[in-house]
Amino acid sequence: MMPSLPKFFSNLSSTITLQIVSGIVFLFCTLYLAFSIRHPLTFNKIIVGINFKRWQTNGSTNNDITKLLTGNETNVMIHSSNLSSESFICDYDKNNDTHQQTNIVFKNHRLNALRPYCDIVPTPRNTWISAKQYVESDIVFIIYTGASFYQNRAIAIRDSWLSRVTHKYFFSSIPYSPLPITVIEGAGENYMSNMKKLYQGMQIAYQKHKATAKFYFLAGCDTFVNVPHLLKRLDYFNHTEALVIGGNPFVHSCFRQKNQVVQTISYPSGGAGFFLSAAMMEMMYPKLDSFFQNHWPTEKVPYSDVALNCLAYSLGVQPSFVPGFWAFTPEQTLNNQGRLKLHSDSEPNTFHYVPPKSMYILDEFYVFQHVDRLANDNNLNELVKFTRQFVAAHYELLRIKTAECTLPPVKST
Ligand SMILES: *[C@@H]1O[C@H](CO)[C@@H](O)[C@H](O)[C@H]1NC(C)=O
Ligand SMILES: *[C@@H]1O[C@H](CO)[C@@H](O)[C@H](O)[C@H]1NC(C)=O
Ligand SMILES: *[C@@H]1O[C@H](CO)[C@@H](O)[C@H](O)[C@H]1NC(C)=O
Ligand SMILES: *[C@@H]1O[C@H](CO)[C@@H](O)[C@H](O)[C@H]1NC(C)=O
Ligand SMILES: *[C@@H]1O[C@H](CO)[C@@H](O)[C@H](O)[C@H]1NC(C)=O
Repeated sequence: MMPSLPKFFSNLSSTITLQIVSGIVFLFCTLYLAFSIRHPLTFNKIIVGINFKRWQTNGSTNNDITKLLTGNETNVMIHSSNLSSESFICDYDKNNDTHQQTNIVFKNHRLNALRPYCDIVPTPRNTWISAKQYVESDIVFIIYTGASFYQNRAIAIRDSWLSRVTHKYFFSSIPYSPLPITVIEGAGENYMSNMKKLYQGMQIAYQKHKATAKFYFLAGCDTFVNVPHLLKRLDYFNHTEALVIGGNPFVHSCFRQKNQVVQTISYPSGGAGFFLSAAMMEMMYPKLDSFFQNHWPTEKVPYSDVALNCLAYSLGVQPSFVPGFWAFTPEQTLNNQGRLKLHSDSEPNTFHYVPPKSMYILDEFYVFQHVDRLANDNNLNELVKFTRQFVAAHYELLRIKTAECTLPPVKST
């Protein structure tokens, strides 16, 4: 999925640019801290002035905990100093456990599996603001998988973040009843078959959802997705415009008639996942067959993310890059890019290459984080909504698990 990684990083000038940019970001963050502590109002005027769009909010939720300064395109939040900031996982102290009744298995899990993420990813403790434009059911989630991943990666995402998603597809070539596999006939099970799964799968999803879907989100079966964070990335986009939205850019060539290089494009990492707007899908749909049959050199370049972005480019659409899409696990991202970079955005939406075991843990970690934030905000409306959704998904999973698991026989003594 990221063929040109070495090329991208060996490009010295882009590395230098990156360093300069992170230097500027660092300076800006320092200024932010200095200003926001001493002169909150002055600072808000500054960020309104440069049209800083990240902290927009819909003022109707929590007037008692946040006050809003409304600019024309921009609402800027002022943090109240009275918010609680308890973190169920990160503040856990095993030597001073006030809930003595907590069972020992969970105690160990909390400390040894969940707690380590507190030192890796950002841990906002309050002031949750939901996505304003789109809800989860506006998005069709498309996952590419293969038979060898059914019982590990695919089940792990089915049981974790994807369990709270309405419209979801696994595209593959072999049916498997525990998973909602949409079979792509004759796609095969090698790496190149991703292409056929991709364009036929897109056609199937489009046919089924074109009347209602606002965005399509494409990812692999080892991508962790924080759906509430992901939806916020769409706040400043409009699904009626032709858009490709993702992050973590790589570069690759595009082709015509299988062997003519037409240009080199920058495209969002498919492993970290990316969105296609409804308008983009509508434009691509009639071109998919011809593009893959006549133009794309599948054997030579079996990278579905590159191919789709080249198709979009040929239709005049360039990708929009936003933060939060990480092409590696949280641990690797911290090691490779450093804390400052990883923490430059406090609400990451995807991590790639997450192994099945970590998929469950990361999902649980973020569910607790979400509950912390809603509770600390006294945001009862959303807390109830989220809890009900979670409970419903939990019991649905239990029903699925009951149907698919055979318990060992009880041996008589
Ligand atoms: C804020 O969100 C609520 C629903 O959550 C909606 O009814 C209301 O119109 C929104 N207000 C603004 C100003 O966008
Ligand atoms: C904000 O909106 C008001 C009226 O709606 C307008 O007079 C003013 O110029 C706008 N300010 C900016 C910075 O666009
Ligand atoms: C915040 O706390 C201060 C002092 O504890 C109190 O006077 C003030 O009313 C509180 N504000 C809110 C919004 O609760
Ligand atoms: C135990 O936790 C409570 C509440 O968080 C705190 O007030 C107390 O000081 C802690 N005791 C020790 C010994 O750390
Ligand atoms: C999106 O664009 C369409 C067409 O330009 C427009 O009618 C609609 O109001 C826009 N939606 C939002 C949320 O801006």
